[in-house]
Amino acid sequence: MSNDKIIIAIDGYSSSGKSSMARALASAIGYRYIDSGAMYRAVTLWAMRHGMVNDGTVDVDNLVAALPEIKIDFKPMPDGSQRTILCGEDVEDEIRRLNVSNNVSQVSVIPAVRHSLVAMQQALGKGKGIVMDGRDIGTTVFPDAEMKVFVDASAQTRAQRRFSELVEKGLQVSYEEVLANVVHRDHIDETREESPLRKADDAVSLDNSEMTIEQQNKWLLDLYNRILAQK
Ligand code: DC
Repeated sequence: MSNDKIIIAIDGYSSSGKSSMARALASAIGYRYIDSGAMYRAVTLWAMRHGMVNDGTVDVDNLVAALPEIKIDFKPMPDGSQRTILCGEDVEDEIRRLNVSNNVSQVSVIPAVRHSLVAMQQALGKGKGIVMDGRDIGTTVFPDAEMKVFVDASAQTRAQRRFSELVEKGLQVSYEEVLANVVHRDHIDETREESPLRKADDAVSLDNSEMTIEQQNKWLLDLYNRILAQK
């Protein structure tokens, strides 16, 4: 067995719980955790603040021209979570709001946005020892990742989880609104031309609809230990 650090790619549908799993694994094994969805959300928030998203329509030319100005960083927190920093400002809470969720798919279909964020993600993975979650991490960002997982759960289960999270944060939303957003994002994620959401051929699938958080964290840690033992 070698001590070399590996790259762990965790992809899956929106609100499938992949971020919590990825974060828990990273913290358990002392790896860095990166939420690639936060980067697409941060670009979307920037575009919204600059009047480049109106009724779901994105001013693609101006947004693409502005990409070099959009600086995204992550601030690791002592509890293993991360805060997303957009041009020096902590936007972690704002990027999770439903108005950003409602526009993020339209921004993430833009090829130049994807190319720019994929390059940033690949740079973050240079030293390995990273757990990154998203939609195209195992297929496009790190096709050679040593461990790949594809997470799914029913749309209703995922909407219920997201709804509970938003209500817990004190936001006024209905379950129906959240479900419609989840279904809509699934559709856009799966059908976009540029790196659509799909399971990498060598990814291990996990349907966590009936699993507790503890069960899914254990499943992931066991898989990691098995992969490491084979190295
Ligand atoms: O994981 P999330 O729901 O926070 O992601 C927000 C959006 O970003 C999601 O609708 C699709 C997009 N995304 C993407 O296209 N590629 C990624 N690697 C991560 C997220």
